Amino acid sequence: MVIRSQIAGCGSYLPQRIVTNHDLEKHVDTTDAWIVERSGIRQRHVAAEGENTSDLAFEAAKAALANAGISADELDLIILATATPDHTFPATAARVQARLGMTRGFAFDLQAVCSGFIYALATADNFIKAGQVKTALVIGAETFSRILDWNDRGTCVLFGDGAGAVVLKAGEGQGTSADRGILSSHLHSDGRHYDLLYVDGGPSSTKSTGFVRMKGNEVFRHAVVNMAEVVGEALVANGLTSSDIDWVVPHQANIRILEGTAKKLAIAKERMVITVERHANTSAASIPLALAEAVADGRIKKGQLLLLEAMGGGFTWGACLVRY
Ligand code: COA
Repeated sequence: MVIRSQIAGCGSYLPQRIVTNHDLEKHVDTTDAWIVERSGIRQRHVAAEGENTSDLAFEAAKAALANAGISADELDLIILATATPDHTFPATAARVQARLGMTRGFAFDLQAVCSGFIYALATADNFIKAGQVKTALVIGAETFSRILDWNDRGTCVLFGDGAGAVVLKAGEGQGTSADRGILSSHLHSDGRHYDLLYVDGGPSSTKSTGFVRMKGNEVFRHAVVNMAEVVGEALVANGLTSSDIDWVVPHQANIRILEGTAKKLAIAKERMVITVERHANTSAASIPLALAEAVADGRIKKGQLLLLEAMGGGFTWGACLVRY
């Protein structure tokens, strides 16, 4: 018998306001056609004034707890993956913990930008496998709209706001790929690429928040290669091939990265959950948003094999194989 972290519920939240590419055409020198052709994005949700990352995270957390049929006092741990915390400190997770009414256990933020949800899922899984935690809430929540330079057409058209969450519960398995739960997770980073995708501010360097800066074409080049490599690593570790995967739930950065990765891995695009056209890149929130959507509409079913994968600033990248 081995301990397996099993997904007991998922939930998500998107701010009400939708900004279309046509709306952006009025503010920056861009066109709907350029954005759709280069990224697949048609619209993004943007948080209202005064609506913060913790508000989005709280709504997604409530939905995930309801979906799992548990209350917050059953949680031992909250990990909130975000690059856009409400404040420099305390952790936004602590705010969510208080709002949920969870007064025991522990909560912290995790920062791996767009790979944040994969890193957080792997971290929670390890707490569960170590026996330190029985029930964990893993959230990805972002308000990237607050760190975008709305005059920089190379970045402001690509990102959006949102949140998603999953409840993990300790279960048992036989130690095979037929077990329900997280089968394995694979994390990587390479700090030599720090300057290809970063925010040009921070409490220690500039005492300001700063804006996203990116060398888009270089990020793109690395993304497809890194994604394909880490997915291959996850499959080999479990003695599986890409034909065993029922659904790929990828980080939603750009439709061309998704298509490039699918092609490299010989996975049909129809087996990918794709939300990028409606959500844009919501960083750490994009995977749990896509997961919650595909679970809610019945595409993802109990017992199916899911591949979650992401890449982000740092660079960071990673993958998790999960039997739902
Ligand atoms: N509208 C119109 N033109 C734009 C534009 C916009 N929103 N943004 C950039 N351009 C222009 C550039 O200024 C450039 O013009 P020039 O040739 O006159 O200098 C031209 O389009 C091509 O720019 P380039 O950056 O080479 O385009 P690209 O084909 O690489 O596409 C991205 C740009 C950003 C869509 C693409 O590189 C990408 O998606 N990269 C990955 C980004 C990503 O996913 N980041 C997050 C990872 S977590």
